[in-house]
This record gives sequence, C-alpha cells and structure tokens, in this order.
Amino acid sequence: MKKDLMILGIESTCDETSAALLKGGKEIVSNVIYSQIEEHKKYHGVVPELASRAHAAKIATVINEALGNHPLDYVAFASGPGLPGGLMVGRVAAETLANFKKTPIIGVNHLEGHIFACEFEGTEAKARLSFPLVALVVSGGHTELWYVKGYGDYKILGRTRDDAAGEAFDKVAKLLGLPYPGGPQVSKQALSGRRDAIAFPRPLLPGTWEFSFSGIKTAVSYYLRDHQDYSVPDVCASFEEAMVETLVTKTLWAAKKYKVKHVAVGGGVAANTLLRERMTEKAKEMGVETHFVERKLSSDNAAMIALAAYKKLEHAEKTGKPVKKNINIDPNMKVRNWD
Ligand code: KG4
Ligand code: ZN
Repeated sequence: MKKDLMILGIESTCDETSAALLKGGKEIVSNVIYSQIEEHKKYHGVVPELASRAHAAKIATVINEALGNHPLDYVAFASGPGLPGGLMVGRVAAETLANFKKTPIIGVNHLEGHIFACEFEGTEAKARLSFPLVALVVSGGHTELWYVKGYGDYKILGRTRDDAAGEAFDKVAKLLGLPYPGGPQVSKQALSGRRDAIAFPRPLLPGTWEFSFSGIKTAVSYYLRDHQDYSVPDVCASFEEAMVETLVTKTLWAAKKYKVKHVAVGGGVAANTLLRERMTEKAKEMGVETHFVERKLSSDNAAMIALAAYKKLEHAEKTGKPVKKNINIDPNMKVRNWD
C-alpha cells in the first residue's frame, strides 16, 4: 500500500454529517463534522426524515471542506448500521466522488469505526489497541458488546434488546425537562446529587450478554410520577449510577469470561466521566487495561470511518485476500469478519 495513502471517509449514519481525510492510515488531515443537533433538539431525539434532509443539504459542503485541494486515493463510507436515508446519502456521495476522481471505494461498519477510534491520540492514530479485547460500543443508537480477536475478527456477544444506553440518557433527560442530547445534561446535574439516593434497577440479565435499558427508564418515570418533590440532581446521579454499574459489570464479566487483558470503549456515551472512571478503576482491579476513545472523537465522525477502511485495506494486503467492498447499504448491519 502506498505510504501516504489518502483516504476520504464519509459518515452519515445518524445525525452527524462528516467527511475526513486520513493520510497514511495515521494522520487526520481534516475532520469536518456538521452536527444536526439543532434540527432534532425540539423533538428530544433524532427524527429520521429530518436527518436525511440535513445530510442531503450538507454532505457536499463537508466533503469539499475536508478534501480541499489534497490528492485522493480512496473513498470510504459507513455503509451500516444506521438510518436508511442517511446511509443512502452517504453512498451516493461516496460513489459519485469515487467515479469522478477514478478512485476505488469501500464501505465499512460504523461500529468498527467507533472501536478503532480508540487508537487516535489527538490527530494521530497510534497502535494502541491490543488483542484480544472486549469492546463496548455505547451511543445514542447502539449498545453492543464484541469479542475482538484481531482486526477484522469479531464475535458479537450481545446488543441491547430495547433502548441504547445514550437513548436512555436522552429519554430520562426529556422526562426531567432537560435539553437534548441528554447525556451531558444528566451527567452535569448528577455532579451535585447523591448516587445512592434512589435504588433504580441494574438489569444485568445474567446468562446473556444482552443489555436492556427500558426498565431503568420506566423506573425513573414511575419515580417522577410518585414523588412530586423529587430532586433533579439525585434522580440524575442515581440513574447514572445504575446505567454505569450495568455497563461496567457486564463488560468486565465478558472480559473475565473471554480471558482478555484489554477493554475498548467507544461511542458517544464513552464521553461519560463516571463510565470512564468506574470502568478504568474496576478493570484495573482485575489486571485489565481500558482503552477509551478520546472525548473529541467519541461522537460520530468520518475520521474513524477512514481509519476503519485503512485497517481493512492493510489487512487485505497482509493476508493477500481480496478486500470485501461492502458498498451496499445495510441499516441493520451485523459484525462482519474480513476474511
Ligand atoms: O455516538 P453518538 O454521537 O451518536 C450515535 O451514534 O448515536 O452518541 C450520541 C449519544 C447521545 O444519546 C448522547 O446523549 C450520549 O451519546 N452522550 C452521553 C454523554 N455525551 C453524549 N451520554 C452520557 N454521558 C455523556 N457525557
Ligand atoms: Zn455512532
């Protein structure tokens, strides 16, 4: 592979329209992110139709800005999982650009992007991930636990049966009248609350690696209904405690079961301070090292998509196997092994 390979990544799976240029699989030359938060704020969640329209309106601009006058060797885009409308916008933009520039094109799994984003330090991807590892992807749309043997060698352990972790934060924020996105708001309120004030459930679902967060959210709504004089900080702190304890416990159970020494955590909820601290502390007690995505790159962005594409191309070159292009969009994409 060319030393300074220039990959343009495109991300449009949910509510961020982003394009990024990655040089030599290492250096983020540009990472332009247009967040649609303002469009979705008044609905307290992502409205798919509005998201599609906003992607269509912004994709050309973010690509232009990210690419500038730089050379281009490869176009990569997130082909799933995600909202169908956004994925289509990403695919059409990626294919048009690749045809026009006469470059190859590749589709990658958005969740792989969230995991590999843990390798970025500032604007450089450093080989920080050590395998095998257990990966937790926690965002507004996904909560999944993966066993990762190496690049492109995955086993999905479990996903959420209902709400994603970020979605639960967003819904609880809405119940409390806090603005969208709810995660940062709930965390902020929690700072002045008591984490043991209210005993919300910890849905550990032993015997499965699945998650379920709708019960915690319902417990919060019943609590608010039954207590007129509730304390917002106490509710937030107790809810956050229940969420974090559930995520940390299950992830570390998986680390123990699969005998791994490394855990990677990516996705928007990975920005949560309590989750970062608690996971790191509990993992350390077991001799397990944690690798969190930096806060700046925890939310959806195209640099992580370009990096996932680079890893895939590098793997194909090493193994001598043809790279799977995966350019058909797949809103419910499951993990796919590269070989
Ligand atoms: O990865 P992301 O930007 O988008 C999706 O792919 O969904 O994640 C956004 C989600 C939102 O639900 C937001 O409330 C949550 O991540 N989030 C947080 C925090 N920061 C963002 N949740 C808890 N604590 C945070 N500090
Ligand atoms: Zn995401």
